[in-house]
Amino acid sequence: MTAVGKSVVRQDALSKVTGTAVFARDLHVPGMLHMKLVFAGRPHARIVSLDTSRALACPGVHAVFTARDVPHNLYGLMIADQPVFCDDVVRFVGDRVAAVVAETPEQAAAAAALVAVQYEDLPVLADPEQALIPGAPILHAEHPDNVLRTIRLRRGDAAAAMASADVVVERTYYTSYQEHAFMEPEAGLGYIDEQGRVTVHGAGQNTHDDQRQIAEALGLPLEQVRIIYGPIGGAFGGREDISVQLVLALAAWHLRRPVKIEWTRTESITAHHKRHPIRLRYKWGARRDGTLVAAEMDIVSDAGAYASTSTSVLDNFLFAATGPYRIPNVRIDGRAVYTNNISTGALRGFGAPQAAFASELQMAHLAEALGIDPITIRLRNCLRDGDLLATQSPIPGAVSVAELLEICAREAGAVETSDGWHLPDVSRTGDQSHVKKRGLGIAVSMKNSGFSFGFPEGSSARVELYGATTIERAEVHTAAAEVGQGTHSALAQLAAERLEIPLERVRVVASDTADIGDAGPASASRLTFFAGNAVVTAAGMALARWRDEDRPAVAEYRYNAPPTTPFDPETGASVNSVSFSYAAQAVEVEVDTQTGLVRLERVVAVQDPGRAVNPQQVRAQIEGAVVQAQGWAVMENFVTEGGRILTDRLSTYLIPTARDIPSSVETHLLEKPDPEGPLGVRGVGEAPFGPLAPAIVCAVRDATGVWFDRLPLTPEAVWRGLHEG
Ligand code: MOS
Repeated sequence: MTAVGKSVVRQDALSKVTGTAVFARDLHVPGMLHMKLVFAGRPHARIVSLDTSRALACPGVHAVFTARDVPHNLYGLMIADQPVFCDDVVRFVGDRVAAVVAETPEQAAAAAALVAVQYEDLPVLADPEQALIPGAPILHAEHPDNVLRTIRLRRGDAAAAMASADVVVERTYYTSYQEHAFMEPEAGLGYIDEQGRVTVHGAGQNTHDDQRQIAEALGLPLEQVRIIYGPIGGAFGGREDISVQLVLALAAWHLRRPVKIEWTRTESITAHHKRHPIRLRYKWGARRDGTLVAAEMDIVSDAGAYASTSTSVLDNFLFAATGPYRIPNVRIDGRAVYTNNISTGALRGFGAPQAAFASELQMAHLAEALGIDPITIRLRNCLRDGDLLATQSPIPGAVSVAELLEICAREAGAVETSDGWHLPDVSRTGDQSHVKKRGLGIAVSMKNSGFSFGFPEGSSARVELYGATTIERAEVHTAAAEVGQGTHSALAQLAAERLEIPLERVRVVASDTADIGDAGPASASRLTFFAGNAVVTAAGMALARWRDEDRPAVAEYRYNAPPTTPFDPETGASVNSVSFSYAAQAVEVEVDTQTGLVRLERVVAVQDPGRAVNPQQVRAQIEGAVVQAQGWAVMENFVTEGGRILTDRLSTYLIPTARDIPSSVETHLLEKPDPEGPLGVRGVGEAPFGPLAPAIVCAVRDATGVWFDRLPLTPEAVWRGLHEG
């Protein structure tokens, strides 16, 4: 092995730390114009009139675009239900009604303020329960009950098995919104390229998804639309949906001039989707020895105003709802419901964190009810090789849940004796003032790679080898989006390994739809796995041609993953996913009982990356996920009131800073190769998000004796829980 398994410095590291990397916001071309969008700013209203004449008359203004200018005014990543510009009704505060293009950003903003829209406010559906009441206003005519998606799973006989259980735990959990808070708010530049193609240079998660949606909305052939990504300041799922790409393409296409847009942080927070708040009603039954016999679950997710990826996130509950456990009798009913809240969609974990929150707390409650320790009860039930998932297909790959849990428990200080596992008593460490109390919690989770459930998962790559007698230079062409996760470096390492050449000779040429076919999105923990498979095979093919004296030696390959299948609408039965990754975490907290502040003193994070292409990068992904999950669990409080967003800036929506993050995160990697992954790779980006929040709740229980069912555990929420019961 020459390149894989080494913690080499990322190829983009120097340019990012020195500030020379050119992000979308940094793009500048002579003669470019500037765009400002006009947002609705109200959650539900009928547009009575829209007058752009005063804006058009403003100095420097070149155009004001509205719905009339868009050939196909509905778009969406999965379901085209969102207007590019609203002309009839607005359904959430971030809906757009117009775009002003002017010589300067200031002129564009001044004119945007003069776009006159007369609204007639409509009743606001502020939560899903309200939207489900018969007679509630209908937000989308195709869904007269406001239900965007229903899922159903039936395995075995859950009711009969539940009746035979020795113990039943029934609880309702509530998870909260989360904002992606990536460093670079949305920005981009639209222009006409030298071949006359409308081109958007921006930041997204899949060039080809952006291309397709723009072509459809503008009524252009695909090859007339070109998407280029440069360096991207974070994504986390928040760039899966189109943000500024479509309106930039529209303006550049009409004006034949470069057009730039930069969203403010407030525009970013109020206009792109959030993590789904979900109400999860869970009823699980077990035998006296802890063996799970039945699970019944009913969940309702707030989809917000438009579909985004809500259908797919809900579908993920069919495997994620039961956690990494074997449960023979399962009943799941789930609904994603339209409301007048901000749309919800992809955010690191894609539904799995919400499922892990409920299922891990169910395990903790069952353990407590039965007097079994939290490790033993999990080991007794966790999925092992060949087990059936709730969707009644065998779990793929090599399953490592049990090993990860055992490593995690030991590293956290637990010992195993003849009567089970004993977690350490941490109540006597730290401050002994009785004001601050310490506790320990542990949890596990799993995450699929790829979109699963029949989604055709593929990835294209082309490898070009240059030189005379030795390979002096290798180019890896891929559309894989580098959103900060390090995928380009990982792909270069995989190529170098396969080509048996020094890593320095490999260059990744990426993210231009004019150059290469799609790699699929930078999401669902999928690129190192899917794009990696394409790159490794293409490299092998190019190497064979090199040996046949081809100069340059070029090979292009499309990896198509083993097919999954859509679920049966009645039973949920399906081959749901190609690959899974697993993580276990233990967390020690200190709870200040006077302020309710929960501090993370120590996190032990154990994960199976299959094969760590770049161990340091894998650890960085785990640390990042832990901090982001900490934010979701104890800090990030996205407040809405009647559809309006009250926390529309980072001074009111608080995310962890260097002062808040855990005092220590100890990462441990167990490499159990995935049979389908390139050189054994599994996805790593999302699995480590899952266990932290439930582990924190268990640790707070250990520290204070109080259980919490609702996120986030802000100081106020914890204080109320401790003092008001
Ligand atoms: Mo991701 S949450 O699958 O973009």
